[in-house]
Amino acid sequence: MEQTIEEIYEEAVRDIDAAADEGRIQELAVIYLGRKGKVTRYLRNISQLPAQQRPEAGKRANQVKQALNQTFRDAEERLGSAASTDERLDVSLPGRIPARGRLHPVTQINQEICDIFVRLGFDIAEGPEVEKDWYNFEALNFPKEHPARDMQDTFFISDDIVLRTHTSPLQIRIMEKQAPPVRVIAPGKVYRCDSDLTHTPMFHQVEGLLVDRNVTFGNLKGILTTFVHQMFDEQTSLRFRPSFFPFTEPSAEVDILCVMCRGSGCRVCSSTGWLEVLGSGMVHPAVFENVGYDSTQYTGFAFGMGVERIAMLKYGIDDIRRFFENDYRFLAQF
Ligand code: PHE
Repeated sequence: MEQTIEEIYEEAVRDIDAAADEGRIQELAVIYLGRKGKVTRYLRNISQLPAQQRPEAGKRANQVKQALNQTFRDAEERLGSAASTDERLDVSLPGRIPARGRLHPVTQINQEICDIFVRLGFDIAEGPEVEKDWYNFEALNFPKEHPARDMQDTFFISDDIVLRTHTSPLQIRIMEKQAPPVRVIAPGKVYRCDSDLTHTPMFHQVEGLLVDRNVTFGNLKGILTTFVHQMFDEQTSLRFRPSFFPFTEPSAEVDILCVMCRGSGCRVCSSTGWLEVLGSGMVHPAVFENVGYDSTQYTGFAFGMGVERIAMLKYGIDDIRRFFENDYRFLAQF
């Protein structure tokens, strides 16, 4: 016999102590106590010992076998429960707070604008972003050679189909469908081939249209003043500046007192004290003609504003492109 039972025992205990997991313990059980294991072989070989040594050797070997059985059971328990300790829930660990989604700042401002006009009795309408030349230009009294049709501004899909360059086509679509009176706003995306600090190829507008008997420029001023006071504050005064749009006559661009410097002049208002926020005017009789409204009976006003522009002024953002970069750190501020 090469190894004494004591040597086998010591070797087994060393191996078991060094075992890293339950799998290794099972391997060792086979090596020592399995059918061809070291202890089993030792027991089998006792018959070859001299007769006087056999009882004592058998007793020793059986003691070792029992002791190892116990050692294996202990080791299995130790390694098994160590593994389950790792999986145990640490209830003292602070929870992970999931990032909360929120509405995009442009969506928020768009809703704020719409809410103000809905409170003033306006309905909301929507129309297609891919638009016929007729609705985007022709019916709005744009002469054929008008610069607004220029390739530099308009995304053409075909000769006759464009990405709408403003929400004004909704004026035509609404009046085509319904007889006066009309009191509607139309929010939506518009497209222009333009990109810099204050322009993106896609941006949002809200169009307004009110048509009835005896509608005056005074009504236009009243509605827009109410809007600006609710959107910004009562101290934000307005300035109506003569302007030109083919579909309104007279036309006016509306400036508000600079929200940054309150009129004293700063970088945001280019030292003028005023900020342009929207275009407006009295609906041109030619437009009424195009939708079959009687321009001797009805008058109306229309206006259109850029949502990003309002959001930039309200939040003091100087680069419109921030809205479309989807930088979570920027968006999370609103
Ligand atoms: N559609 C014009 C624009 O883009 C704005 C406008 C709307 C002007 C309604 C007058 C009346 O820019």
